[in-house]
Amino acid sequence: MSTENSPKHLAIIMDGNGRWAQLKGKKRTFGHKAGVEKTREIVEACSKKGVESLTLFAFSSENWARPEEEVSYLMELFVLALKREIKMLNKNNAQLRFIGDISGFNKKLQTSIADAQQQTSNNDGLCLNIAANYGGRWDIVNAVNKVIDKDSVITEKSIEENLSTSGLPQLDLMIRTGGEKRISNFLIWQAAYAELYFSDKLWPDFDEAELDLALSDYSARQRRFGKTGEQVSV
Ligand code: IPE
Ligand code: IPE
Ligand code: MG
Repeated sequence: MSTENSPKHLAIIMDGNGRWAQLKGKKRTFGHKAGVEKTREIVEACSKKGVESLTLFAFSSENWARPEEEVSYLMELFVLALKREIKMLNKNNAQLRFIGDISGFNKKLQTSIADAQQQTSNNDGLCLNIAANYGGRWDIVNAVNKVIDKDSVITEKSIEENLSTSGLPQLDLMIRTGGEKRISNFLIWQAAYAELYFSDKLWPDFDEAELDLALSDYSARQRRFGKTGEQVSV
């Protein structure tokens, strides 16, 4: 596949783990475990395809409202996955970065996050951003608070520069798996002009072939940014 019309910055709402497990008569946590395996496959595929920046929604600021058992399973799973995947990230020259309010996590997870970020900090290939305890509204409020500490006037540019994604390419494509057609407080500012793609596949069933379908759909779209079709096709 040519990289000419590929998204530089791709975001994915990895949804459907719980339903995937329940369809198999298993506990929701079984789906989260399977979801981690898929995450690895998609990270490696994106790295191979030359995506510059991949932002994955792993845990939203609203997900704390889930049953305590599921939340604590997820925290343990993140610690395990971080430890296990550092090798894969280094093999793929991928740099890991967390976006979200990391201070909301327990100390053990905060340490794992810091270690994983540090151990991949010299890589200059794919920028893998994990959105954890992330909410788009939080991101905007946080950016505004940073700006008002310095400036009396808030501009789009100053907010943009203080968002958790500052320095990354603009968001080109947002994929949501699992069949729901909503953004669920993910990258709401950044998605202002992103292309949206919804897949009915539950996350543990989403594979490289499904990613290719999304990427080829994206590559055939005309992004007009307010202009006319004629203006952008010249
Ligand atoms: C997404 O899958 C993973 C997280 C939110 C952590 P879900 O757990 O939301 O799966 P469904 O939507 O209930 O099937
Ligand atoms: C969004 O999925 C969050 C993640 C994928 C991490 P949810 O399953 O939490 O979204 P809603 O609550 O159905 O909108
Ligand atoms: Mg869900």
